[in-house]
Amino acid sequence: MSEGVLRGKVAIVTGAGSPIGLGRAMSLALAEAGARVAMLDVNPETLHTTAQEVMAAGGPGSARPMVWDVPTMRAARPPSTAPSPSWAGCTWW
Ligand SMILES: NC(=O)c1ccc[n+]([C@@H]2O[C@H](COP(=O)([O-])OP(=O)(O)OC[C@H]3O[C@@H](n4cnc5c(N)ncnc54)[C@H](O)[C@@H]3O)[C@@H](O)[C@H]2O)c1
Repeated sequence: MSEGVLRGKVAIVTGAGSPIGLGRAMSLALAEAGARVAMLDVNPETLHTTAQEVMAAGGPGSARPMVWDVPTMRAARPPSTAPSPSWAGCTWW
């Protein structure tokens, strides 16, 4: 993907937190292409570490880690902060 082609878009990646997984690779590529990436994973520790990597690549605010159990679509832990205005247009449950 060329840089910036996804600027203004929001992507949702499930299983995003593995430090070696497909979700990390997809999140990095999406953020580098300009998207803001909602990173969902059930493991808070690896998720937050991987989200820091994605923000280092895509810039501040390019990733939003969310601790979710995807099959049940329930937050495994409530979001620690409210969505920033830059995430307007995305619906948070
Ligand atoms: N079809 C293929 O050729 C192919 C190839 C590689 C991987 N895969 C599949 O793709 C998937 C991802 O592979 P990977 O290598 O990135 O795996 P991985 O184990 O590195 O990452 C999976 C991530 O999903 C998270 N996760 C697990 N249960 C979850 C849940 N209930 N809710 C939210 N997150 C959850 C884990 O915490 C982990 O961070 C796997 O299912 C794998 O079998 C398919």
